[in-house]
Amino acid sequence: MKISIVGAGNVGSLAAFHIVREGLGEVVLLDVAGALAKGKALDLEDACAHLGVPYHMTASDDISALRDSDIVVITAGFARKPGMTREELLDKNAHIVKDLSLAIKKHAPRSIVIVVTNPLDVMTYLVLRYTAFFPSKVFGMGPSLDAARFRNLISQAVAVSSRDIETTVIGTHGESMLPLPRFTYVKGIALDEFLDDKQVQSLLQRTKERGKEIVSFLGTGSAYFAPSLCVAELVSAIAKDQKRTIGVSALLQGEYGLKNVCIGVPCLLGGSGIEKIIELKLNGSETAALTQSAESLRALITRIP
Ligand code: 2OP
Repeated sequence: MKISIVGAGNVGSLAAFHIVREGLGEVVLLDVAGALAKGKALDLEDACAHLGVPYHMTASDDISALRDSDIVVITAGFARKPGMTREELLDKNAHIVKDLSLAIKKHAPRSIVIVVTNPLDVMTYLVLRYTAFFPSKVFGMGPSLDAARFRNLISQAVAVSSRDIETTVIGTHGESMLPLPRFTYVKGIALDEFLDDKQVQSLLQRTKERGKEIVSFLGTGSAYFAPSLCVAELVSAIAKDQKRTIGVSALLQGEYGLKNVCIGVPCLLGGSGIEKIIELKLNGSETAALTQSAESLRALITRIP
């Protein structure tokens, strides 16, 4: 299995480390910035050798090195700065993602593409548009990161291990993210049996703002420990044909009453990519919020020439 990671920044290089360490396949780390990928790859080799883990890794600044990849992960692009929303990155990153999509279409026409670049849902939509790949082969990493953050914050609030907490977050990986308390359980017990509405609302808000909170402390760049783990989890679901249900940004074609938009929903993931889009039984207000979330994306998509 050949896995190419485009962008050797913090998320890309740490994802490469997790993927190599798990032995998921041969990794190619790519970055247009001169020898950056090479330097990171050498460091990763040393780390693997120290752990006694066999590695299959190369680095390149030439995009054609992703030739015949089975999986391509796109992490390239600008990260937000303190005070910025993910949506404000649209114009800068759209050009980068367009060029990469055309290169992927040319060199790795049978690959599955995982998009990480922000604004996530719009970039996923653009990759689909420019590669013209089947919708099951292109999806965005974001909702699983948001679900992990929600899980962590609930775990802290109720003092229960995060391993016993199941959370669901749908909608955009952005300002109209939709953590769903009705589909969130602490060891099978609904969240509202542990916390009152005010506490739940505060956790929802903190989940939505977690990425921004991290950016404000980092000063430059955005989160990478949790995002890179979430990337590796998706690669693992595909590489090992795990049939996992994980939230990703996927193209909807009638599901949830929505069409022609990439947005976060739970999906069954396996060797062929998205094998099924799971339709949760949303109530009226959840449906309205998801629809509004999709409208906000449409407004962004129309801004792209
Ligand atoms: C985050 O939520 C960068 O979108 C990424 O941290």
